Amino acid sequence: MNLQALFRKKTAGDAAESQEGAQGHTLHRVLRVRDLTFFGIAAIIGAGSFSSMGQACFSGGPGVILLFIICGIACGFTAMCYAEFASRVPVSGSAYTYAYVSFGELFAWIIGWALLMEYSIGNIYVAFSWSGYFTNLLDGTGLHLPEWLTINFRAAHAAFLEGKPGTEGFTAWTSAPRILGMPLIFDLPAVFINIVITWLVYRGVHESRNVSNLMVVLKLLIILLIVIVGVFYLDTANWTPFLPNKFSGVMAGVSAVFFAYIGFDAVSTLAEESKNPRHDLPRGMMYSLVICTVIYIVLSLILTGMVSYSQLGVSDPLAEVFKIKGVKWMLFIVSAAAVLAMTSVILVFQMGQPRIWMSMSRDGLLPSRFSSLHPRYKTPGFATIITGLVVGIPIFFTDENFVLDFTSIGTLFAFVLVCGGVLMLPRREKNKNKREFLLPYINSRWIIMPLTISAFCLLWIYDRSFITSPFFITAGTAASNIPMLVFFALCITMALASFIKKLSLIPVCGVLSCCYLLTGMAASNWIWFFIWFAIGLVIYFTYSMKKSVLAKNAGSFKE
Ligand code: ALA
Repeated sequence: MNLQALFRKKTAGDAAESQEGAQGHTLHRVLRVRDLTFFGIAAIIGAGSFSSMGQACFSGGPGVILLFIICGIACGFTAMCYAEFASRVPVSGSAYTYAYVSFGELFAWIIGWALLMEYSIGNIYVAFSWSGYFTNLLDGTGLHLPEWLTINFRAAHAAFLEGKPGTEGFTAWTSAPRILGMPLIFDLPAVFINIVITWLVYRGVHESRNVSNLMVVLKLLIILLIVIVGVFYLDTANWTPFLPNKFSGVMAGVSAVFFAYIGFDAVSTLAEESKNPRHDLPRGMMYSLVICTVIYIVLSLILTGMVSYSQLGVSDPLAEVFKIKGVKWMLFIVSAAAVLAMTSVILVFQMGQPRIWMSMSRDGLLPSRFSSLHPRYKTPGFATIITGLVVGIPIFFTDENFVLDFTSIGTLFAFVLVCGGVLMLPRREKNKNKREFLLPYINSRWIIMPLTISAFCLLWIYDRSFITSPFFITAGTAASNIPMLVFFALCITMALASFIKKLSLIPVCGVLSCCYLLTGMAASNWIWFFIWFAIGLVIYFTYSMKKSVLAKNAGSFKE
């Protein structure tokens, strides 16, 4: 095997050239900074704030706010790296295209494969959460769907095995119609929303943009209302103890909290539909991330301040707090806001996935059908339908927790590669004539090593178990101390590299902060992640590597 082939790179010019669609069509350029910021917010605020935040508050207590800040900082560094790439390589494909330019083909494929988890698998979690709130709304209007149509098969089976009569899962299992003795149980609203959104995206970005902008305005207004009403029910006594389960309890919520931030990078998949991508994409990404970070910090303060953290371990925490406080009229509003918020998340991700596939297909790594544009709607029609199937089929077989963890680990992995990729790019000077984003260069030489030593000393003083008992496994929590040891080894390596090569501070901090979040992932997540990774590699080596456009070009030069 030709090892060099694995690292063949596209230039930014190549990437721009392949922008022309496979059939000579291009996408409509209609999006500006405001639209892109709205797209970012549409993708970010959803199931993370309306569902998974509850679990994170439950395990971490009021101290979960620290995790929101840490994740916000990690995503901020990453967003700046995305922005740097977006201003250099302004074509669709997100981190995939960026990796192709900086690391080469194999890494690009791996990142494209990891992004599938973020965009499609993540949407499965959002669709499940959407279904929960939608069912609440229907119940409020007197329409009750039978339990076997509102829960996924695995959750119902688990509830049945636990033997808790009266729970939704148990009722679903015992009341479902049987086919050859097998209970027929699936989440109908989750399937429904996936079909509707797939159709909307198939029809085109014009319709999608207008619907999306409207939903974002509404969801921001309703979140403002939740905050204003919530303030009247605050009891600051709930903020103590601040860390009821120590910091390890906070870190146990890392998947749930990080999931809430996923989405700002989806903006970069819209490069080919934005008017001035070099200028507008970076801004759209950064603005949406800053706005959402502020919202999350405020929301987590409100949630943990209204009731005890121990009451928040539910799938609809924002509704639960108002239920506990007896504010019935807010229940309908919160459920409606949740449905809106999550609809826009599904919409943006369902738009992003086909565009990544489109780029991979233009590069020859996927069959050409993935990049064919619909002659009338000018959207990647085939890839859109496949996305609908990739989201829709697992809805019948999987459950929320699995897809949540899986999505977070895959996305963090992609973020690490993006930040690392920026370190591989040659430095460039600001072009005063062009209004493009330029990542500020700060020399990390004298910063990373002292930071690493200080962090090590602090951990040594407060919790040295990761050195004294590295193989200790904590039952039910964030795995063993080994990830922390690996993380420190990485910190030392990066500190040395920063010292010797005077690396740029922001991407170094991006790599380290995302890797730190990865230390919170449970061992079982890693096993699934590596299985997924291995499947991706098999596809690459048996198909994509041979069909790559770069491979063909290299062949024709030889001839
Ligand atoms: N951040 C997105 C959400 O919370 C994925 O739904």
